[in-house]
Amino acid sequence: MSAELSPIEKAKFVAAKRASDMVENGMKVGLGTGSTAAWMVRCLGERVRQEGLKIKGVPTSTRTADLAREVGIEVIALDEAGWLDLTIDGADEFDAELNLIKGGGGAHLQEKIVASASDRMVVIADPAKEVAHLGAFPLPVEVIPFGWKTTRKLVEEMLEGMDVLGRDVTIRMNGAMPFVTDEGNHILDLHLLRIGNPRQLALVLNQVPGVVENGLFIDICDTVVIGHGDGRVELR
Ligand code: 5RP
Repeated sequence: MSAELSPIEKAKFVAAKRASDMVENGMKVGLGTGSTAAWMVRCLGERVRQEGLKIKGVPTSTRTADLAREVGIEVIALDEAGWLDLTIDGADEFDAELNLIKGGGGAHLQEKIVASASDRMVVIADPAKEVAHLGAFPLPVEVIPFGWKTTRKLVEEMLEGMDVLGRDVTIRMNGAMPFVTDEGNHILDLHLLRIGNPRQLALVLNQVPGVVENGLFIDICDTVVIGHGDGRVELR
């Protein structure tokens, strides 16, 4: 499966492979979204087909649900699963405390719900995702479509009192139209450059009317599996 991959894809693949090997028979597994998570879904599908691994997968997006079914993983809804043994997902950034920025793919709402309903969250990443301070990657914030421009203004005002370096807020676009999430919402991307207090920001952002969920994952991730282009894997 890993033949002739570019170093970055190899890094994603080896991280995904190591994490997928943590999955055991009978587990209910949260399936993340993104290019790294897609490798993990393919690896799990291979184990289902080759070893007869029996798992139930709870996808975090329609994209992941489609891929999981395609590779032979039984897909169930979160409410059917109730509680999950493990969630494996990618991230846009992680810091030394294993706090994350997620939502580059616009799926952080479902991803946060699924990870929070799991015994363990394992993040799979390439080395470029490791940062000293979160915030270089724009922070995604899911907002309801009603009055999203007003919500953006309220978010901008709220940022005035926050320990961040940048304060630009943009609406994520899909061509000429605002991007629409699986839940029918829009995404504001917050260009903060450096987040001084991610825990405080995560709490305050969700107080703004119109905000559904932000992409800061605080105290949710248990382990990060970092893959390297030469095939090495590190655990944090
Ligand atoms: C999607 C996410 C992804 O996990 C994150 O964007 C990382 O994606 P990739 O593995 O493609 O770099 O949070 O909402």
